[in-house]
Amino acid sequence: MSVLLKNGRIITAAQSFTADLLIEDGKIAALGQGLHFKADECMDVSGKLIFPGFIDAHTHLDMETAVTRTADDFASGTQAALLGGTTTIIDFATQDRGHTLKEAFSVWQKKAEHKSACDYAFHMAITDWNPQTRAEMKDMQELGVSSYKLYMAYDNLRLRDDVIFDIMLEIKRQHAMLGVHCENGDLVNGLIRRQLRQGHTAPLYHPLSRPAEVEAEAVDRYLTLASLADLPVNIVHLSTALSLEKVRAARSKGQIVFVETCPQYLLLDDRLYAGTQADPFGGARYVCSPPLRSLSDQQALWQGLIDGEIDTVSTDHCSFNYHGQKELGSNDFSQIPNGLPGIEHRPSLMYTAGVATGRISPERLAALLAENIAKQFGLYPQKGAIQPGSDADLVIWQPEDEGIIRAATQRQQVDYTPYEGFKTKGRVSDVYLRGQAVVRQGKLKTSNAGRYVSRGPASYRRPL
Ligand code: URP
Ligand code: ZN
Ligand code: ZN
Repeated sequence: MSVLLKNGRIITAAQSFTADLLIEDGKIAALGQGLHFKADECMDVSGKLIFPGFIDAHTHLDMETAVTRTADDFASGTQAALLGGTTTIIDFATQDRGHTLKEAFSVWQKKAEHKSACDYAFHMAITDWNPQTRAEMKDMQELGVSSYKLYMAYDNLRLRDDVIFDIMLEIKRQHAMLGVHCENGDLVNGLIRRQLRQGHTAPLYHPLSRPAEVEAEAVDRYLTLASLADLPVNIVHLSTALSLEKVRAARSKGQIVFVETCPQYLLLDDRLYAGTQADPFGGARYVCSPPLRSLSDQQALWQGLIDGEIDTVSTDHCSFNYHGQKELGSNDFSQIPNGLPGIEHRPSLMYTAGVATGRISPERLAALLAENIAKQFGLYPQKGAIQPGSDADLVIWQPEDEGIIRAATQRQQVDYTPYEGFKTKGRVSDVYLRGQAVVRQGKLKTSNAGRYVSRGPASYRRPL
């Protein structure tokens, strides 16, 4: 099967140019001006942008918590991803305590295979460190898992500092990438208790139990451990100016630190937790950890994207319905399931608020949402690149189209969106996944074309 895309504006992290693009057998076969080839299908995409398929390196699909399960599974989540232009996700397979990494890997494979609409890979979250877990990390490498997540908060997931340090040394041996959820878990627990003791049970108190210092202290400690282990590391869902200062200080001493942030920390702020007079519990929709922050934090994060201090933007998509799930915390904010939906809307939100406003270039968008992620997590140049030999994962983007985000029209299988009513500029027209047209004119054409992607070693070279 061959496809010729004529006169598109190709956007990569390094440059943009107008060219024809030939797809053959799922791969990009050629790029150039005036390509003549009798393809099975030929489409004129003049006036449209062609981005590399976007990659979301932070999703939680079909994830169980102690009391409930995420609203999106691999079917709805990856269909929503494709409709928004995301062609590959990296989800978090999570070890249950008392169980092995191999079990976690096979549980997540079962959740994803035959169900996934886009390509998928897994980070492995380690929650139980013992000699067997250590030995299994070699097996994970063979299975194409080249990144790990550890938690410094959440009692059922978090690990002690000495354990984190020990795991860092093992990760270094594997040349894998570590990402850590940076919040001081003891402090979070204490601050929650203090709020509840005072009768503060509403969502409004969620951010007060997890102030900026709770994240920044954990970031600082994590970077100290990483420095001791001499391991380049990633910080997932970084949300504050204070944490960015800690990163800056570590980098100034020569440490290699990757930083991810998410659209919610760039576009939403902590005033939303107050809800409305009519619906004071409404703020529960925005409960995630770390919480939404202040407008000045938002500004610092945008500056970080512009200056290159932040390397990637992924979603931390972790959706729970407002009715029946977020409502579990109606008498106690600490029981509200943590997480927000976002897998469908990241590209359009970032294009609208970033590119259309002139804050960042389309090339920077390609870097933040595709190329940097692919390089960091061992997917490049198979993914994240528009060059001969790469998978033909491509997003045809209509830059002038406008839209409005609505829960009523989204594919995400959740009863709200935190971005309800947001006006968007730029929209997905068509999406190719390994050369297959999976979205046409904004409509999903196939729902189980996704495949597992076995990844190579992580890269410790930061962009720029
Ligand atoms: O609130 C969040 N972010 N939930 C998802 C799990 C995590 O911490 O990444
Ligand atoms: Zn986290
Ligand atoms: Zn997460």
